[in-house]
Amino acid sequence: MARKSFNPGTLLVPLPAVMATVGDMENSNIITIGWTGILSSDPARTYISVRPSRHSHKLLSENPEFVINLTTEDLAYATDYAGIYTGAKVDKFEKLGLTKIESEKVKAPTIAESPLALECKVFDVLHFGTHDVFMADIVNVTVREELLDAKGKICIERAGLMAYAHGEYYTLGKRIGKFGFSAVKHKVHSKNKTDAKSEKALPKTEYGVDIRSGKDKVRFATSGVSKGEGAKSKKVVNNKSKSKKNTKKRATGTAKPKKGVKNEK
Ligand SMILES: Cc1cc2nc3c(=O)[nH]c(=O)nc-3n(C[C@H](O)[C@H](O)[C@H](O)COP(=O)(O)O)c2cc1C
Repeated sequence: MARKSFNPGTLLVPLPAVMATVGDMENSNIITIGWTGILSSDPARTYISVRPSRHSHKLLSENPEFVINLTTEDLAYATDYAGIYTGAKVDKFEKLGLTKIESEKVKAPTIAESPLALECKVFDVLHFGTHDVFMADIVNVTVREELLDAKGKICIERAGLMAYAHGEYYTLGKRIGKFGFSAVKHKVHSKNKTDAKSEKALPKTEYGVDIRSGKDKVRFATSGVSKGEGAKSKKVVNNKSKSKKNTKKRATGTAKPKKGVKNEK
C-alpha cells in the first residue's frame, strides 16, 4: 500500500462546478465556480471563492448577492464556457442561450435551465490568498417543478447533476446508499441493543437538506440531532472573530496571487 506525496494542492474532489449568477437583471453575469461549499446547516450558509481579477468580483462588490445555479450534464458546455470567457467582454446569457429569470429574494438572476438554485446574500468577505471568500446566507431555494414528486419532495436524482474532479467534468454514478445506512446495517449485526440505531432515530437531514415545496421551502428536520451537535455548530458560528485571527478582511482588490498554486481556478 505504498503512497506518494505531492505538493500541497487543491485536490479536494469531487466538487460541484456551479454557475453563480451575479449583478442584477439589467447588468448580470455568470461565473463558473468550483471553490464552493456549505458553511453551516442552520442558519443555512454557503460561500463562493472568487479571484479579485474576475469581472464577477466587481459585480459582487457592487451588489453583495449571488445565486448558485446547480449544473447538469446538459449544462456542461455552458458551465465550461462561463468559466473561460469573461463577462466584461461577452454577455454569457446571450451567447449560451440561457434564460435569465428573476430570483425571489435577491436581485441577482437565476438561470431557468438550472435544476436547483440557491439565492444568497453575502454577510462577510474574507481574504485567504488568491481568492476572496464571499460568505453568504442562503435566503431562498428554487427547484424546477419537474423534479418534485406528488408529495413535493425533491427527486434530485432526476436532475442529471454534474461533478468536477481534477479538471474533468463527470456525471454522477449510481446511488450506492443513503445517509445513515451504515448505522442501520449496524443494527442488524449488533448484539448490544443500546448501540443499535433504528432508521427512524437517525439525524436524517443534517447533512442533506429535506426540501419540500410550499410555504416552508427549506426545512431542516432536526429531530434526531443531539443537543450536543447543535450546540457545537452554534459555537463554530459564534467563533467567527477567533477564526479571523488568521485571516484578513479584504478592503480593496490588492490580492497577490500565491506562487506555486496548482490547479488554478
Ligand atoms: C470548472 C471551473 C471552476 C472554476 N472555479 C472558479 C472559482 O472557484 N473561483 C474563481 O474565481 N474562478 C473560477 N473559475 C474561473 C472563472 O469561472 C473564469 O475566470 C471566468 O471566466 C470568470 O468570469 P468573469 O470574468 O465573467 O467573472 C473556474 C472555471 C472553471 C472552468
